[in-house]
Amino acid sequence: MENILFKEENGIAEVTINRPKALNALNTQTLKELGVVIRDIAERKDIKVVIITGSGEKSFVAGADITEMKSKNAIEGREMARLAQKVFSDIENMSQIVIAAVNGYALGGGCELSMACDIRLASTKAKFGQPEVGLGIIPGFAGTQRLPRLVGKGIAKELIFTTDMIDAQEAYRIGLANKIYEPEELIIKAKEMAAKIMSKGIYAVSLAKSSINNGLNMDTESAFNFEADLFGLCFATEDQKEGMEAFVGKKKPNFKGC
Ligand code: CAA
Repeated sequence: MENILFKEENGIAEVTINRPKALNALNTQTLKELGVVIRDIAERKDIKVVIITGSGEKSFVAGADITEMKSKNAIEGREMARLAQKVFSDIENMSQIVIAAVNGYALGGGCELSMACDIRLASTKAKFGQPEVGLGIIPGFAGTQRLPRLVGKGIAKELIFTTDMIDAQEAYRIGLANKIYEPEELIIKAKEMAAKIMSKGIYAVSLAKSSINNGLNMDTESAFNFEADLFGLCFATEDQKEGMEAFVGKKKPNFKGC
């Protein structure tokens, strides 16, 4: 891997986009490498939470690589969008919980990458935006779809049409960032959140993720049915027995994740 760093500790994987000279812009190679890492992690039962961040102090990901994109034709442009959409969908759909630790610029494809994650933690230095129409293109890594689903259609259109870059506070206000931390605290807080999530019934956490993600793509009636099915499935797990027996016995549960 040339442009992706990978670390793991205590069930938490840390994936770092590492092209600091280009502010971690996503070229095809980086997208492919990210895809490989994500698919490897998806098969690892021992990894429960993934933290995605950017190398250096300035940028999470400053978008798709404009230098590479500038000479693309229509077919190649569509291929690049499809590649990124696939990788981001793999992130969104993996059973592990994914936290974006947004340490700086999250622009264009960077904002879109953060939106494919389950939770976005921002440093006070984070800046979010969708600058694409200023380059004569549209957000093509699923930004026109995930941004309105996260912040509502009106605000998404304003951000995409004006290309306004917003700071962490504004991202927090509109619901794009879940929490804001000082830069030096960001990864520590992401790991703390990961540990908190892992202390719960992690299989149930994963089913809750699936219920939210899949349910939002269904009509309400089907989504309720899907949720009820997953709720029922929880009763086949040891964690459900442990969680409820611990509650009744006034003890702390000792979940096994199965
Ligand atoms: N692609 C390629 N290179 C990039 C890049 C990008 N998206 N963003 C930054 N870089 C490169 C710069 O070209 C520069 O390289 P050189 O040192 O070789 O000149 C280096 O990173 C540092 O950048 P700047 O000198 O521009 O740093 P700055 O602090 O002055 O500005 C910035 C920072 C505001 C983020 C500015 O770099 C910028 O506007 N970048 C482009 C952001 C952008 O438009 N992103 C959207 C891309 S399109 C997209 O993502 C489509 C999609 O839907 C997926």
